[in-house]
Amino acid sequence: MSIRYDQKARTYTLMTKNSAYQMKVTGFDYLLHLYYGERIPDTDLSYLLCPTDRGFSPNPNEAGNDRTFSLDVLPQEFSSDGSCDYRLSSIEVKNGDGSFAFVGKVRKHRIYRGKNKLEGLPCLRALEDDTVDSLDIWLTDAVTGLTVILSYSVFEEKDIITRSARVVNEGEDTVYLNRIMSMTIDFLDSDYDFIHLDGRHTMEREVTRAPLSYGIQTIGSFRGASSHQHNPFAILCDHTATEDYGRCYGFSFVYSGNFVCKAEKDQYDQTRVIMGIHPKHFSYQLKAGESFTAPEVVMAYSGQGLTRLSHLYHRIYRENLCQSPFVRKARPVVINSWEAAYFDFDDEKLLHIAREAVDMGVDTFVLDDGWFGSRDSDCSALGDWIVNPQKLKSGLEGLSQRIHELGLNFGLWIEPEMVSENSSLYRAHPDWCLQIPRRPAARGRYQLVLDLSRQDVCDYIVQSINEILDRTRIEYVKWDMNRFITDAWSAIAEKEKQGEIYHRYVLGLYHIMDRIILTHPDILFCGCSGGGGRFDPGMLYYQPEIWCSDNTDAVCRLKIQYGTSFAYPCSCVEAHVSVCPNHQTGRITPLETRGVVAMGGILGYELDSTQLSDGEKKLCRRQIESYKRWYGLIADGDYYRLTDPYRFGEYVAWQHVSQDKTRALLSLVVTEKESNNAQRYVRARGLDAKRFYHVSGFPEVFSGQLLMSAGLPVPGSLLQYEAIQYEIWSADTEKEEAPSGCATMP
Ligand code: GLA
Repeated sequence: MSIRYDQKARTYTLMTKNSAYQMKVTGFDYLLHLYYGERIPDTDLSYLLCPTDRGFSPNPNEAGNDRTFSLDVLPQEFSSDGSCDYRLSSIEVKNGDGSFAFVGKVRKHRIYRGKNKLEGLPCLRALEDDTVDSLDIWLTDAVTGLTVILSYSVFEEKDIITRSARVVNEGEDTVYLNRIMSMTIDFLDSDYDFIHLDGRHTMEREVTRAPLSYGIQTIGSFRGASSHQHNPFAILCDHTATEDYGRCYGFSFVYSGNFVCKAEKDQYDQTRVIMGIHPKHFSYQLKAGESFTAPEVVMAYSGQGLTRLSHLYHRIYRENLCQSPFVRKARPVVINSWEAAYFDFDDEKLLHIAREAVDMGVDTFVLDDGWFGSRDSDCSALGDWIVNPQKLKSGLEGLSQRIHELGLNFGLWIEPEMVSENSSLYRAHPDWCLQIPRRPAARGRYQLVLDLSRQDVCDYIVQSINEILDRTRIEYVKWDMNRFITDAWSAIAEKEKQGEIYHRYVLGLYHIMDRIILTHPDILFCGCSGGGGRFDPGMLYYQPEIWCSDNTDAVCRLKIQYGTSFAYPCSCVEAHVSVCPNHQTGRITPLETRGVVAMGGILGYELDSTQLSDGEKKLCRRQIESYKRWYGLIADGDYYRLTDPYRFGEYVAWQHVSQDKTRALLSLVVTEKESNNAQRYVRARGLDAKRFYHVSGFPEVFSGQLLMSAGLPVPGSLLQYEAIQYEIWSADTEKEEAPSGCATMP
């Protein structure tokens, strides 16, 4: 078992292959956190606690005259509110008597093989060959009967520990749960940097790294979705941590709605990190016997820097999260109609684009927004999922058939969670959207949000979308969500339950995804929210890939994909080649470079193929051929960041390395060119030092050690925004035929 309870010491020790985690039950039955870090022998680590009388840090009543026992100082596993701890609390309740206290004492525990599902929520699952053990610890408040069950699952080989919490009202009074964190973790020191991924629409997941300072550092979202602004992912690492050195802790929240992650450096230079549903506007009614399940946090520890931490997340999210069979299949190369036609198309125009795309070698034609109701702009028709016969004269089925006759698969855009005021749906059911009485709802992109906390609304969505999917031959669906939530009030919920709406919306979303996505395992669903506004593990449970950003500029994408790579594998990053000047930035970059950057994820195209020259189409075809040949490397290989675009401006480089280290693809884009530049070298990573490798464009054979230590010279002939790709293959394996023209070769 990877989880052990030592009855004498009253310690729980969780062991993964390379990490250990220990908790301890104190004399008064509080649960303390003793350690998370490098794997160490399973011994009682209580010696780390140095009881000290700390002035102005209160002592619980049962400690009697012992002034050294204070929950304001001791490291805790779950901080009980109102019981002497002034730091961030894990829970806030309003009890039947109006008090806010919750004092959770360990009542019992259970250790078992395997991992339970979380009710109504996405979470990791154990595969057949995974060794996964789980632990539940019951913390009960003796006065109110309220119980929090902390759950841990240990993925031993994969170096991952998951946490979640369930609150059960075992008392008689109704209580209100105003905050419940899925994870609280205390560190006895505070010499850490806090790294998080933040940004904005069209510039998501930029990397911010700063040392902790006294007080609280917060990231989060109360936009109703995980958001472009902050990703539900954070890292705590040594100040000295680099890509391959130092202690790093990752926290990733498997949830798609409001979230918060806070790191507090306290008065004694200790650190507390919490992660969970954002408490703003959250108040969950729990009557006697009722319970609430908080979503899962996936924790990882690496003692060898950030790359290893990323690899732990990449592996677990590739293998243990997504339910779709497509997660293990090679994904199609799509051409998407959005930047080619926006709302202005009919079936002939679409077929023309598709026909030309056949020459490029794409697999799937995706019809984006504008095909339904009176949708000629973004002002109308969301909710009316009926084809517009003026645009598509032979209907969706007819278009799909003609697309298939060209040898392409057919994909469709939907945005099921929304409604336009100018729509038949809104006119029939104005109460189906989130809206507060006497306060007309705020608009976002002219649209309102459907109330997914309502079963009848969910049923409508499921029925109308499934009807399209069942009637039409469709192989791919892009599921979009183009505004965030405001006015979170439901017309049918009682007033005491309005504080549940944000969360119930997310549960409703997962519920409709269960009924639409999981019932169509033959369709590849791809997520989107104005690009990466909902790029989170909750969505990746349903959709193996997500449109990474509405920004298709290759140079901006270098940063966006760099940041994304800290938590998410390339196999879930949708990246498309678009035209130049780029529609978002006006920048002009070579088509070769756009292809190289898009191959940092799941390659696709987002352009009007009828406007491409024959030469450009040929180039796209070669890009697609190369990409398909390298697909295994890109989707399943280990990803290495070779540069930090925030520190070094001249070029950005990255590398995909096969698991057996026999093949690699090193890609580089020049981002800032001056005249007569210094000679630069790019050093490979992740190769086998002892093995010998060929490198495309070089006659000699190099040892892995050499490629990783001395590196390769970056050709001085490369101009601004030009790219190069080096294919690297072990000297004792045969290289398949080399691609040509995909990127500049020296
Ligand atoms: C969002 C998406 C785009 C496109 C439009 C359509 O902005 O991110 O890719 O689908 O909606 O309205």
